[in-house]
Amino acid sequence: MQVKKLADLNVAGKRVFIRADLNVPQDEAGNIVEDTRVRASLPSIKYCLDNGAAVMVTSHLGRPTEGECRAEDTLAPIAVRLGELLHKPVRLIRDWVEGGFEVKPGEVVLLENCRCNKGEKKDNDELAKKMAALCDIYVNDAFGTAHRAEATTHGIARFAPVACAGMLMGAEIDALTKATENPARPLVAIVGGAKVSSKLTILKTLAQKVDQLIVGGGIANTFLLASGHRIGDSLAEPELVKEAQAVMDIMKARDADVPLPVDVVVADEVSALARANRIPVEEVGPHDRILDVGPKTSAKLADIIAHAGTIVWNGPVGVFEHNQFAGGTKMMASAIAHSDAFCIAGGGDTLAAIAKFHIAQDVGYISTGGGAFLEFLEGKTLPAIAALEARFND
Ligand code: 3PG
Ligand code: MG
Repeated sequence: MQVKKLADLNVAGKRVFIRADLNVPQDEAGNIVEDTRVRASLPSIKYCLDNGAAVMVTSHLGRPTEGECRAEDTLAPIAVRLGELLHKPVRLIRDWVEGGFEVKPGEVVLLENCRCNKGEKKDNDELAKKMAALCDIYVNDAFGTAHRAEATTHGIARFAPVACAGMLMGAEIDALTKATENPARPLVAIVGGAKVSSKLTILKTLAQKVDQLIVGGGIANTFLLASGHRIGDSLAEPELVKEAQAVMDIMKARDADVPLPVDVVVADEVSALARANRIPVEEVGPHDRILDVGPKTSAKLADIIAHAGTIVWNGPVGVFEHNQFAGGTKMMASAIAHSDAFCIAGGGDTLAAIAKFHIAQDVGYISTGGGAFLEFLEGKTLPAIAALEARFND
């Protein structure tokens, strides 16, 4: 993957336009609940400021209607947080596509939610050209949005005088490449979450590559169904049993393994007050809901992780938000923290689990991507990265 890198460019006195992914979770009052993406965007911004560039940063927030900018769409709270982290004021520019605002060298402004501009999502050329005209150098640092071909992630890269990858984008590409090309073996993937349907492509891709495929959550339930187990009232997709079977067949043919739970934690409801029971998987009753793996399974998964060379982690193995169903994910997190393997983790739930169990320092690389992380692992070409590759030689 050959892309120009920001760190190799002289930005002094240049107008630099950085497309970041500052799409962070907020509470109902608009307060930022989790600011990893804002922090992860700092190195590129600081590099430009320290080297005397006039810096414009933009991002999307949520999925607003184009042509409107409602109170919940504004980047205002993010401008405040960015200012705190940079120790300098960050002005928010509301209508910016046509220019008409000033940015001095050494100054940074935040350009309002780029998805409020008409034409952003459809990657409109006219919009992309206008945005490109604002800068001398376009930097894409929005790895979390690299799977979208939009005007700020794709079109602008064609028209800007120079188009390069920012530091976060570069780090993401390097870490994901390390985990996917010639990874240290055994290569273990953990794919958790509610639905096989949303992760079917990634499961099939990983089944061709990994030595162990640990499935968790509703996905594991569908796999249990496929191998003939009763799962009571558990979340699953019976219509995808054949697909789950196909994934297990691919793995088996390669002498690789999908370790299914031998014991589980069940309750009759998902709630903080639910009474949890640990039972062997054969004893799941008709009204039981499987909400976590049991201790024997946790120990087995921890052992697999302990012997791994590389770990790719997306999704928890239980409803870890509630403590009585957190045991499996906690044990896995602890095994990852203690393992010598290179571990790359991504996705919103995974980041929440990493935060809850305080293992951020012990994970090799934490990706800021959700959908982009999965699509990269699937081997898909991400449009935003392809757009930078196309500009490598000029
Ligand atoms: C994300 O949160 O996954 C990215 O910011 C992309 O957002 P999108 O799914 O709305 O394009
Ligand atoms: Mg939102």
